[in-house]
Amino acid sequence: MNELDINHLIDNKTGRQSRLIFHEKQIYELEQERLFGRCWLFLAHDCQLPEPGDYFRTFMGEDEVLVIRQKDKSINAFLNTCTHRGNRICKADQGNARSFVCSYHGWSFGADGSLVGVPLEEEAYHNQLDKSKFGLRKVARVASYKGLIFGNFDPEAPSLEDYLGDIKWYLDVWLDAMPEGSELIGTTQKIEYAVNWKMPVENVCGDGYHAGWAHAGVMTVAASMNVGLSVGNTDMDASLGASITGMNGHSVLAILDGYAGYAFYPDPSRAISYLDTNRHTAIDRLGEFRGRNLWGANQNITIFPNLQILPGLNWLRVYHPRGPGKIEMWTWAMVEKEMPDDLKQMILDNVCRTFGGAGMFDNDDGDNFVASTRLNQGWQTRQQDVYWNMAVDMGKEHSRPEMPGVVSEGLVCEQNQRYFYRRWQEVMSAQSWADIPNYNGLEEARATEQR
Ligand code: FES
Ligand SMILES: [Fe+2]
Repeated sequence: MNELDINHLIDNKTGRQSRLIFHEKQIYELEQERLFGRCWLFLAHDCQLPEPGDYFRTFMGEDEVLVIRQKDKSINAFLNTCTHRGNRICKADQGNARSFVCSYHGWSFGADGSLVGVPLEEEAYHNQLDKSKFGLRKVARVASYKGLIFGNFDPEAPSLEDYLGDIKWYLDVWLDAMPEGSELIGTTQKIEYAVNWKMPVENVCGDGYHAGWAHAGVMTVAASMNVGLSVGNTDMDASLGASITGMNGHSVLAILDGYAGYAFYPDPSRAISYLDTNRHTAIDRLGEFRGRNLWGANQNITIFPNLQILPGLNWLRVYHPRGPGKIEMWTWAMVEKEMPDDLKQMILDNVCRTFGGAGMFDNDDGDNFVASTRLNQGWQTRQQDVYWNMAVDMGKEHSRPEMPGVVSEGLVCEQNQRYFYRRWQEVMSAQSWADIPNYNGLEEARATEQR
């Protein structure tokens, strides 16, 4: 697959996309190399490995990695594969260990990744094995932003702070509204779906269009509060919502009323009282606009490429690709540490009820994503393009001084999806980070447009 082919697959001016991007193995392999091999990828939250020796097993693209808290409290990540014959070093999902012993021939590795023990080293290897050359392969970069730990295989990548750019302004609504910050609670909810990894990302990043139709049943139940969303195929009051993008592939879909995230709770009063009690703190720390309009509201935050964080609805999710037509979807409930225990429990219960493997919303969405992925296996079918072409060239994109990024009023416009795929195309067609444009906001986005 060469650069010319990648550029032909998507036309962000018209919203046209080739269905091959959801099916072709060759494109999927290039995603592993250029996208998952270069972007900052979510590894874990600080709260999941607080002490030295704590570890968490996860993925960076197809690659399985072990994230380990070091003696000096820093974090390292390693490929979870034995340097002898390739077996998995650590089989547990998370825990605490001084060393990791391979179950095949018993090589053992320290928390710093070094090879510390080889059975029969003298008798079988005649003391000729240079153990210093057989440590676990280290992930080139690991960095944290306010509790969120990311890894990057590419030593040439920009810093995590630069990579996140203006999305930090929105992210801080969850990470920094309260003095003690955030945490994830409950276990990791894991489910395997027969969908291409981009399907759920493009949906959550900007698809307000589907909400009232695909989720009409759940929305009917939740219609007791005015959340700016309507059941059925009707548009909503655009002034209540905003689609925000143009931030190096990151995006936000936000409801601006300061409460809407809790509209989907059977009894939102406990959460509303927490928000009312602490609103002044959020305003002190985040300023009037974010403290009043965004904190407590629902924000769909997408960190390119595969992390989505929804303050308000209170879940964090990562999509691990498993081939072009399969993902592992991992979801956690997320809370502010200061929240009282009964509210935390209510949030965990509600996340299980709405999103995640058994969630009402995710079951609606999963059915649609599986069909959209499966049908691309038809040779004739995949000759036909699909479109994100709503409101193309309608001038809805503009800048609002109080909000970073390219902003459109309302949750129904498909601009976030077009910018997601613009970034996909930029990263996929570039030879290195030096060729990948950097833009935050409308002027920079227009100036760096590649065609
Ligand atoms: S494969 Fe791990 S010790 Fe042989
Ligand atoms: Fe949905």
